[in-house]
Amino acid sequence: MTKIISPSLLSADFGNLKAACEMINASEAEWLHIDVMDGVFVPNISFGFPVMEAVKKYCTKPLDVHLMIVHPEKYVKRFAEAGAKILTFHYETVENPLEMIDLIKAEGIKVGITINPDVPVSLLEPYIDKVDLVLLMTVFAGYGGQKFIEDSYFRIDELKEMIVRKNAHCVIEVDGGVNMQNASKLFEHGVNVLVAGSAVFNTANPLETIHNMLKT
Ligand code: DX5
Ligand code: ZN
Repeated sequence: MTKIISPSLLSADFGNLKAACEMINASEAEWLHIDVMDGVFVPNISFGFPVMEAVKKYCTKPLDVHLMIVHPEKYVKRFAEAGAKILTFHYETVENPLEMIDLIKAEGIKVGITINPDVPVSLLEPYIDKVDLVLLMTVFAGYGGQKFIEDSYFRIDELKEMIVRKNAHCVIEVDGGVNMQNASKLFEHGVNVLVAGSAVFNTANPLETIHNMLKT
């Protein structure tokens, strides 16, 4: 089974993004998670294209971009140009998820769909065989450093069962409150990609933390 760590740049030192990218390049992390927040879909604002372009210059790993913005369909091309290799949008933010999936695929990049913890997993059923990735939020989107919602394991199991039943091939990513304590249990439940922000960047040795998360 694929096991990937995608550290979230949101918890990096924004005064030294180059160093954060170099750490990622040297690490066993396969992707770098980029959280884009607009202050409308979520209460917080993070960063946009200029920061992504800078990161793209230094980071050799695929940028795994998580859009927490309204009208994401307007910006698909710009995000692809800014370096997104995986572009994930919130189901809650679009009128027509199938159209959004096609827009992203047309850019020749991978497409992901995501939902907040209060959205039923069953609503994703029509899309799981059309996307490369399903991201289940394990906190409410908006901030790093929140506590993992324990009920998420039921949602992961439900998604996994749906994927097997439909013979779909998307990977499962989770985001929010992931740490050394829950990483192995998440992989055991069939999660393929762990996003970890504070658990990676707020440790003394991020390289070792990434290694240990994969080995737990
Ligand atoms: C939250 C973001 C997350 C966040 C995770 O809205 O989508 O990617 O950076 O941070 P931690 O791992 O600290 O919960
Ligand atoms: Zn995220």
